[in-house]
Amino acid sequence: MLLNQWYVLANCDEVTSAPKRVHALGQDFVLFRDAEGAAHCLSDTCVHKGASLSCGKVVDGSVECPYHGWRFDGSGACVKIPSLIEGKKIPKRARVDSYPVQEQWGWIWAFLGDAAEAERPPLPDFYPEYEEQSGEWRFARGRAQFDCNWVRALENGVDRAHAVFVHTDFGNPDSPEVEDYEVDDSNNRIYGAGSGKPLNKRGAWRDAIPDAREEREVEVQIFVPAPCIRIQMHMQKNMSQIIVTAYTPIEEGKTQLNFIQARNFLTDEKFDEDSLKRVYFVIEEDAIILKHLKPARVPPSLADELLLSSDHHGTVFRQKIKELEAKGLAIDADQQSRDTECVRVIPSPLRKEDPSNWVFKSVPMREAR
Ligand code: FES
Ligand SMILES: [Fe+2]
Repeated sequence: MLLNQWYVLANCDEVTSAPKRVHALGQDFVLFRDAEGAAHCLSDTCVHKGASLSCGKVVDGSVECPYHGWRFDGSGACVKIPSLIEGKKIPKRARVDSYPVQEQWGWIWAFLGDAAEAERPPLPDFYPEYEEQSGEWRFARGRAQFDCNWVRALENGVDRAHAVFVHTDFGNPDSPEVEDYEVDDSNNRIYGAGSGKPLNKRGAWRDAIPDAREEREVEVQIFVPAPCIRIQMHMQKNMSQIIVTAYTPIEEGKTQLNFIQARNFLTDEKFDEDSLKRVYFVIEEDAIILKHLKPARVPPSLADELLLSSDHHGTVFRQKIKELEAKGLAIDADQQSRDTECVRVIPSPLRKEDPSNWVFKSVPMREAR
């Protein structure tokens, strides 16, 4: 699990003025909106005596701990300690980590890490066509969970050879070969184009997509500082389906998937249910395989598995992850699970700016190489 990435933590409409607990990178976070409606993400554990802030409530734009009523604003600073007698100061260490938040494509993204603003990458732009042709696209969204490590889950999303074996509804079992393909790794994205087959014709799609079993152009992109995949399938001229899947590591062996399925055909709301059903069906087929992959984390070296040219896209991604791990961005999850005596937190940007006066230490990291 990596620090300094943008992660999808919730849908925008799930975050309100009632605090919401979410789990990512093995940690709890509290999400809430202040009086102006701005969304915030804080470490969930109160530095006083360890209560969960998400069990509290939002008062005057700050989250109030349910145990003794300390209040923390969106920056993580404690702004009120009700038990303090007048004239006594709030201690400097009364603060929790606060993480940068952005709302985009209906999702709440939090930057979980301590990189300063200038070093943070921008969010990926998934739907430039939507901005140009607003109203011609229909978005449906959903969520699922894989019982596997996030790198395994993401690699599966770009695995070209598995489709005909794992999925009943796409790929052509009579031609399982995967042609060699180029992958372009630049500008925080790993891009590969190729051919593929859209989902089988069923229900409303049968009439909407002519010759659904024919080869189509498929563009696949992995976004690295915001672990996501964007797959665009060109059904025919001016007819596309774009699926964006965001991968959030919950724990080492659990990954949450938030997805958006966008289409510029069958754009009436009444087709959402059918469209989502297709996506969930595919996810369930993948989940069975992913649950039993060994080792649970991808092995340290590429030579520890027998990867072929059909695995090219995933391999480039895996190398990229290894580079980030070598820079010291990987959480030492084994150490973290042994270390249960004290609370550890994901370091926030303010911690880097001002490293002293924090109650909780940051999570243990694997060594940079
Ligand atoms: S534990 Fe939060 S105020 Fe006491
Ligand atoms: Fe799959």
